[in-house]
Amino acid sequence: MALVTTTEMFKKAYDGGYAVGAFNVNNMEIVQGITEAAGELKSPVILQVSKGARAYANHTFLVKLVEAAIIEHPDIPIALHLDHGDTFELCKSCIDGGFTSVMIDASSKPFEENVALTKQVVEYAHDKGVVVEAELGTLAGIEDEVKVEHGKESYTRPEEVEEFVDKTGCDSLAIAIGTSHGAYKFTADQCTRNEDGILVPPPLRFDVLEECIKRLPGFPIVLHGSSSVPQEFVKMINENGGNMPDAVGIPEDQLRKAAKLAVCKINIDSDIRLALTGTIRKYFAEHPDHFDPRQYLKPARAAVKEIVAHKIKNVLGSDGKA
Ligand code: G3H
Ligand code: 13P
Ligand code: ZN
Repeated sequence: MALVTTTEMFKKAYDGGYAVGAFNVNNMEIVQGITEAAGELKSPVILQVSKGARAYANHTFLVKLVEAAIIEHPDIPIALHLDHGDTFELCKSCIDGGFTSVMIDASSKPFEENVALTKQVVEYAHDKGVVVEAELGTLAGIEDEVKVEHGKESYTRPEEVEEFVDKTGCDSLAIAIGTSHGAYKFTADQCTRNEDGILVPPPLRFDVLEECIKRLPGFPIVLHGSSSVPQEFVKMINENGGNMPDAVGIPEDQLRKAAKLAVCKINIDSDIRLALTGTIRKYFAEHPDHFDPRQYLKPARAAVKEIVAHKIKNVLGSDGKA
């Protein structure tokens, strides 16, 4: 199967009450870990590349890694998506360079500017058969180069979504309902603590999601910032020389609930980083004499595969949907 757009994936996900995972890729091991899991579980998957990933690994290397994954896993639909494109030029470069989907993230701009930039990207993309994700509302955390402090985030205003989608022609919409980027999604002040002293975050704003769904029936919604920050990996990092106090994410049951509604794409990056880093830290602690990268990257890649398989089965519900 060649690279696909997300159109068909989202239609099936919407109707089937599941979501497709969008996982960030930065190197070969991550591409392999994700696609091995998706291939074995017969799940559609979105591989997404940020501006930072392109700067790190180079556009061509990433596209070729994804092309290799398609050859190795011909039975599953794979989309290649630009994550948080911040300019028309960046989106154009990815559209011209083989991506099947781009995000234009003008969510930090005033409504009319967001509409104008999104529309410009949509017109260019649709002409080339590429689909476009846009965003309304801002998440806390780091969105590429845009840092939004806790307390400065804003939920999506449901009364704006119809006008935004009508005016821009975008194909999917990322909304802000309380998720945020990175491994520190909430401050201790925003949370309570459970009996083990682990932070318990405030619940997602399902009322905002439901309002958006009412106004955009049948339209695919996207959730960014949807890592759950598994405490087993935070512990593994902290026990092996790391220091990540109070790292906290979005509870998986809330994401599962969202996936059953109109949320068709769920973005996960931090959990992959935590799985990789925890595994490598533990490996180094246990094998201080090893220095061949294949020795520690092999279990790290296996950890990526395992966490992605877990997400596909228990959070997204996309197994068997290829
Ligand atoms: O939302 C941001 C993604 O996690 C990508 O992060 O810009 O560090 O590659 P990055
Ligand atoms: P996390 O930091 O929660 O993994 O979010 C990733 C993301 O939204 C990428 O766009
Ligand atoms: Zn994001």
